[in-house]
Amino acid sequence: MTWNRKDILDIESLTVDEIKSVLDTADGLKEISERSIKKVPTLRGKTVILFFHEPSTRTRVSFDIAAKRLSADSISISASTSSLVKGETLIDTARNLESMNPDVVVMRHSSAGTPFLLSQKISTPIINAGDGMHAHPTQALLDMMTVREVKKDLNGLRIAIVGDIAHSRVARSNITGFRKMGAEVRLSGPPTMIPKDIESLGAEVTYDFEEAIDGVDVIMMLRIQKERQRNFLFPSEREYAKRYGLSMAKLKKAKPDALIMHPGPLNRGVEITPEVADHINSVILTQVTNGVALRMALLYLLAGGLRNASDY
Ligand code: CP
Repeated sequence: MTWNRKDILDIESLTVDEIKSVLDTADGLKEISERSIKKVPTLRGKTVILFFHEPSTRTRVSFDIAAKRLSADSISISASTSSLVKGETLIDTARNLESMNPDVVVMRHSSAGTPFLLSQKISTPIINAGDGMHAHPTQALLDMMTVREVKKDLNGLRIAIVGDIAHSRVARSNITGFRKMGAEVRLSGPPTMIPKDIESLGAEVTYDFEEAIDGVDVIMMLRIQKERQRNFLFPSEREYAKRYGLSMAKLKKAKPDALIMHPGPLNRGVEITPEVADHINSVILTQVTNGVALRMALLYLLAGGLRNASDY
């Protein structure tokens, strides 16, 4: 298919064909990172700005590596080192960046909707690298890539997403993505961490963790996002780990070949035991590896690289 979309803001706005196109492109690009010389000229002369207003390890570094592997020039700026601290508005900052003719701006922000707002104000393609509690589309795409790589087809799979759903942009984007691709999504966590209207996204909710993971193909564990909670929403981390942490004993409820996933950063001993995090079925680090290929695919599609897959 021909890629016509300017921005990647959320999963809702992507069609099934667009999602498949991104995943297919990422599958094709993954091999570049396994070469001894991990660089192709596809985006030579293109410029990618990484504009991160929240901390990040995986997303920022993988976008930076993705740009470099495609020979694009990447520049990182953060709120604290930009003129935002001198009172410049975000929109003025974005317009100034646009005036330097970058080809893609990758943005993470603590406020939901900020990448969407900027996409209306500047002509440069914007990729949402996570906005508040709203969306993290590139994480959901790399998660779908990782599951598809092992299970071959997302249609008909049963996926459990467990933990602090209320504060999780990863959960929202993954519910929408996996549902779009034909999977069944179950959610579990303490009632205080599950929004009342979340079922409207097409997921089932159970507060019983073991019921949620019974017979599933994939278990995705989430971190408790204390930085977004006004008060801790559970009596203690110890109680949380006992009730909603994934242990070897609880893992037996899932299918024997169930994939164990986590978007990171993970808190060992809280939502997941070290044994489960490092289990043979864990694809947590494969998610990170695939994050590079997936972000290469998005930069390639949005920055208008060579159109022929054989030209990678
Ligand atoms: N998964 C994820 O977004 O991780 P970072 O916050 O480290 O980018």
